[in-house]
Amino acid sequence: MDSNLQQFKDHVIKAAANPDFIHHAWFVDYHLIIVEQIALELCKKHPDADKNIILLLVWLHDYGKILDINHEHKTTLSMGPKVLTEFGFNNEVIKLALDYIRQIDAHAEMDLSKASIEVKIVSSADAAAHLIGPFYQVYLHENPNKSLKDLMSSNKLKVKKEWSEKIVLPEIKKAFLDRYNLILEQNGDLPNNYLTK
Ligand SMILES: [Fe+2]
Repeated sequence: MDSNLQQFKDHVIKAAANPDFIHHAWFVDYHLIIVEQIALELCKKHPDADKNIILLLVWLHDYGKILDINHEHKTTLSMGPKVLTEFGFNNEVIKLALDYIRQIDAHAEMDLSKASIEVKIVSSADAAAHLIGPFYQVYLHENPNKSLKDLMSSNKLKVKKEWSEKIVLPEIKKAFLDRYNLILEQNGDLPNNYLTK
């Protein structure tokens, strides 16, 4: 990893440990590091992809959320260029990274299966990482005022949306199908039979 990228990664890890950030207890270990690992595995399958920009997107894509959870997308776009300049990234890389972040965030409006391989890898890795670790349980834990019924239906809606809009690489759909179905089941989609399919 390039030294400016390592420094930016360290900066993000430190920022995410701030107790004011609601997800501080789990976000690095159970989200960002998992996104990074899935993205690196995908880079091996897609040697044409630009690994440096992918790793930058991994550590940048939730930066705004860490700083200001209520204005996450706007904050990434406004603070990203400033902080990346401070860490020595050149303007061309910053412009490209921010353009890719805009596309990843626009998954509801854009067909990301037509995006660049770098966008496809980070978007797919981001949503796939939500299927690992305590992501959907954490939502229940962090929203104790909502009813269990609402929490479960929100989880189901989110996992379906991410599966259809953000996971755009077939190898991830294949590798994560059982995990996806398990999340649906744990949030209310019960099968007809339990011992046989
Ligand atoms: Fe993320």
